[in-house]
Amino acid sequence: MSQASVSGDVPSMGRRQFMNLLTGGAAGVTILGALYPVVQYFVPPSSGGSGGGVTAKDALGNDVVASQFLATHQVGDRVLAQGLKGDPTYLVVTDNKDIASYGINAVCTHLGCVVPWNVAENKFMCPCHGSQYDSTGKVVRGPAPLSLALVHAEVSDDKVQFIPWKETDFRTNEAPWWS
Ligand code: FES
Repeated sequence: MSQASVSGDVPSMGRRQFMNLLTGGAAGVTILGALYPVVQYFVPPSSGGSGGGVTAKDALGNDVVASQFLATHQVGDRVLAQGLKGDPTYLVVTDNKDIASYGINAVCTHLGCVVPWNVAENKFMCPCHGSQYDSTGKVVRGPAPLSLALVHAEVSDDKVQFIPWKETDFRTNEAPWWS
C-alpha cells in the first residue's frame, strides 16, 4: 500500500524524465571514462619529452646542445647537467666521442651528497663519508648501499633528452632500485 502511494506521488512523465536523466548521466560518465585513455593517447605530453623525459640543462639552465657539448668536452669526461626532477646527472663522453646512451644520477645513495667525478682515480668519490663508485656509477665502496641511479640519454634534434630508466641495470643485471 505504501509503495502504491509513493508511485502515485510521482507523475508518470516526471518520473520517466528523471530516469532518463539518471541513465543518460550514467552513460555519459561511462563514455567519458572509456574515451579518456584514447584522448590521452592523442594529447602530446606537456613536458616535451617522450615517456616522461626532460631536456638536459647546463649549469646556467640552458638546454644542452649535443654538438656544442661534444666540441667542448673530451673523451672520458663526466659532466654534470640538470636531469629528471632537477637531479644533478652526469653526461658521459664515450671513447667514440659520443654522448653515452646513459646518464648517471650524481646523488649519493648513502645520504644524498652530490658525488664528484675524480679523473685521477677514474671513480666517483663521495666527499661526505667516502663512498666510491666506478666510472659507470656502480658502487665499489660503502657506506653507500646502492649504485648511482641511471637514466637514458638520447640526442634528438641536437638536444640531449633524459628519459627515465625502467629496464634492468646493465651494471648489476638487477631490476632498477630507483624505478
Ligand atoms: S652521502 Fe655519500 S658517502 Fe655518505
